[in-house]
Amino acid sequence: MTIERKMKKMHIVTATQFTPKELEKLFQKADEFRSSDTSSLASRKKLVKRHAGRQLCSLFYEPSTRTRLSFETAAVKMGMGLVSTENAREFSSAAKGETLEDTIQTLNAYHYDVIVMRHYETGAAKRASLVSKTPILNAGDGKGEHPTQALLDAYTIYSWHKRLDGLTVVLGGDLANGRTVRSLAQLLAQYSGNSFVFVSPPELQMKDDIRAILTDKGISFTETTDVTAAMKGADVVYWTRLQKERLENPDSIDLDDFQLSAKTIVPLPQKAIIMHPLPRVDEIAVALDADPRAQYFQQAGNGLYIRMALIDALLP
Ligand code: NCD
Repeated sequence: MTIERKMKKMHIVTATQFTPKELEKLFQKADEFRSSDTSSLASRKKLVKRHAGRQLCSLFYEPSTRTRLSFETAAVKMGMGLVSTENAREFSSAAKGETLEDTIQTLNAYHYDVIVMRHYETGAAKRASLVSKTPILNAGDGKGEHPTQALLDAYTIYSWHKRLDGLTVVLGGDLANGRTVRSLAQLLAQYSGNSFVFVSPPELQMKDDIRAILTDKGISFTETTDVTAAMKGADVVYWTRLQKERLENPDSIDLDDFQLSAKTIVPLPQKAIIMHPLPRVDEIAVALDADPRAQYFQQAGNGLYIRMALIDALLP
């Protein structure tokens, strides 16, 4: 079965669903979508014809800026129709006590081509996929995963380093409650020669399930609370915010010593890339934005083209 065939009409629940071969194809497609989107009005118009007549439903139970808007922009740029709810937790029948399964079965009856869903419960995307005939794209499920973020992160790393293997990757911040680092670690664990450095306070350390996966695949990782020491020899520095909304007592955690700033990144090699899934709160100093290694806004931009590529690969 060809890669394209295999990916058609699939639910996307976890970052582990993508093989290196599929990723390479997606990256190529994302490059193509970027060049047709940015070259001329004529090529933009061509793009609009691509999936005309199809519809995307975006169902968000949690706040979002980049994920929702880039998926919706992807749909619009590919000529798809769009139905969107940005606060389903409050404004859908979930507020009246409807189960997620019933909501998804209702949406199935409207025959969208794809449903992009973000939910506050870990495992919600899997649950939705079990009852859905329409492909579900997991746009983040609680403290679980964020597979399409991992795609755009990998695409960004690939665009910068021209490879996804043999990299020293520093993941920092709230590794216990952030879903982006969980998906990215699993995706990069499929490539040989990568190693991780986890930087967080003890109460925000990477969870055991991800450690077990890395150990199983023979991927080495170390842990530290020393931000500056972690920068030495890094190829990728991926920083994250404290997931306040997922913590009972967020004010008890002090991340002051975990800020990336001109001072704390002194040992970081020139070839390295600094990434962040965004939103940033104060864990990366704004002054660092001018550093050419700081690529988080380009990273966000890549999300649009990789999501166009993903939708394109999934739809028949
Ligand atoms: C992330 C998320 O929602 O998990 N945001 C995003 O999609 N870029 C990261 C976060 O909210 O901290």
